[in-house]
Amino acid sequence: MPAVSFAPSPAQTFEIRPLQGLVGAEIIGLDLTRALSDEDFARVHRAHLDHHVVVFRDQRITPQQQIEFSRRFGVLQIHVLKQFLLAGHPEILIVSNIVENGQPVGLGDAGKYWHSDLSYKELPSLGSMLHAQELPSEGGDTLFADMHRAYDTLPAHLRSAIEGRSAVHSYTARYSEGKNAASWRPTLTAEQLAQVVTVTHPVVRTHPENGRKALFVSEGFTTHIVDLPADESRDLLAQLYAHSVQPDNVYRHQWQPHDMVFWDNRSLIHLAAGTPEHLRRKLFRTTIQGDAPF
Ligand code: SIN
Repeated sequence: MPAVSFAPSPAQTFEIRPLQGLVGAEIIGLDLTRALSDEDFARVHRAHLDHHVVVFRDQRITPQQQIEFSRRFGVLQIHVLKQFLLAGHPEILIVSNIVENGQPVGLGDAGKYWHSDLSYKELPSLGSMLHAQELPSEGGDTLFADMHRAYDTLPAHLRSAIEGRSAVHSYTARYSEGKNAASWRPTLTAEQLAQVVTVTHPVVRTHPENGRKALFVSEGFTTHIVDLPADESRDLLAQLYAHSVQPDNVYRHQWQPHDMVFWDNRSLIHLAAGTPEHLRRKLFRTTIQGDAPF
């Protein structure tokens, strides 16, 4: 049989421009509707590791193109809330506050607490991509906190308090909490609950690609620190959270039309700052599986 040969994708001309502040870079001029050459992919991969969150401006990609680009980084994870997956594209979770015919079209209050995506899994997410479909005229920002820097700047007494410790993560930790949770959060079926049993991860993890340590706890999914009395665990976690999300450790992303934002869940936690109820917001999320934290 004759060998099939594929023409290599031509390199594109694009710029990687660090954002003001500690984390984040904009990628300008790259067209994600085209397959990336290995060289371009390597530049994007490097930028993602160095800046932790990269913002691809003005991407007119289809859901399938978002899925294909995401797959270049690893296996995609399917969200447990099947009712909010995009029809025909279960790799995409719809994040939206829109209600049509009395039904929410997506997960309306996704990210209302600081979290790292899917930290409640044995294999939490490497990174997530969020592509803007419909944006509100005000609000709707996404905030990112640098958990490497949070670890590096930890006061000595907190660093020694977490030395060698593990914490439990649960999808249902805050599932029913928060304003309007009852209307946005469907009751989980037994099958769904079986997919989100609690897991234990180190409080400090080492990033498998950049080798840096990062705090790996969040108010969204961490329930407690193992082997500590409940009140001590609560108090310690509260101090870690307060330290992690100090304003100088946070990048606030103000969405522009057709932005695609790709963040590293091993380096950052994130928060959806909220959208005024009368305004519409819709984004498509893909979530890439990472490895077991160590
Ligand atoms: C998420 O936590 O994945 C959603 C973030 C957002 O809607 O800004």
